[in-house]
Amino acid sequence: MGLNKQGSKPTGYTGKIIGRLMNKLHTTLYVKYFKNDLPPDNSIILDIGCGGGKFIKFLSDTNDTYKLFGLDHSPEMVVLSKKVNRQAILKKQVTIIQGSVTAIPVKNNIDLATAFETVQFWTDIDESFSEIVRLLKRGGSFLIINRYPSDGSKWWRIAKIKSDREYITKLEKAGFSEITVDFDFKKGWIVVKATK
Ligand SMILES: C[S@@+](CC[C@H](N)C(=O)[O-])C[C@H]1O[C@@H](n2cnc3c(N)ncnc32)[C@H](O)[C@@H]1O
Repeated sequence: MGLNKQGSKPTGYTGKIIGRLMNKLHTTLYVKYFKNDLPPDNSIILDIGCGGGKFIKFLSDTNDTYKLFGLDHSPEMVVLSKKVNRQAILKKQVTIIQGSVTAIPVKNNIDLATAFETVQFWTDIDESFSEIVRLLKRGGSFLIINRYPSDGSKWWRIAKIKSDREYITKLEKAGFSEITVDFDFKKGWIVVKATK
């Protein structure tokens, strides 16, 4: 199974290794983004495509008033996320769910939905963005942090959204507003924020 397939759905023994690697390498980036601008107390946060679950662990370690959900369609990532978040799951602060972004089985109104390094793999972007709008509270936020590969590169060919303009158009179509795009966070990456 190639890197694209493993990235889109980490599977088997290799998938487990990839999950652990992502927990190490990616989470440092997200923590850097969040540490000066944390969500307020009692926020309900959903991490879509949560992979190995380390970002959720960072949030539960940071603030025990957060209610946290992690969603991933890979059974291997769900097992790893549950392991990584065992204590907070026992305290009922964290729930890890196996499922697709096109049908998210969460009843709560979400304050913040995050999608890190995952949007590029979603097969139906329009349906996925509409599902996120459905789950968010009015005024709730959707935060995407993703690689932004250069035109024509291998990852650009894989990416389901290929430009900042396309992010904006699709988010607006789904019903989001106040959309901001930032390229300064890290070279070769894009940060997109949108409000319901
Ligand atoms: C490259 S990994 C990133 C994981 C984690 N967000 C991180 O940055 O470390 C992409 C994750 O998104 C998940 N994923 C991809 N498409 C998905 C979908 N349609 N629904 C739910 N999860 C999905 C994959 O299973 C994988 O765990």
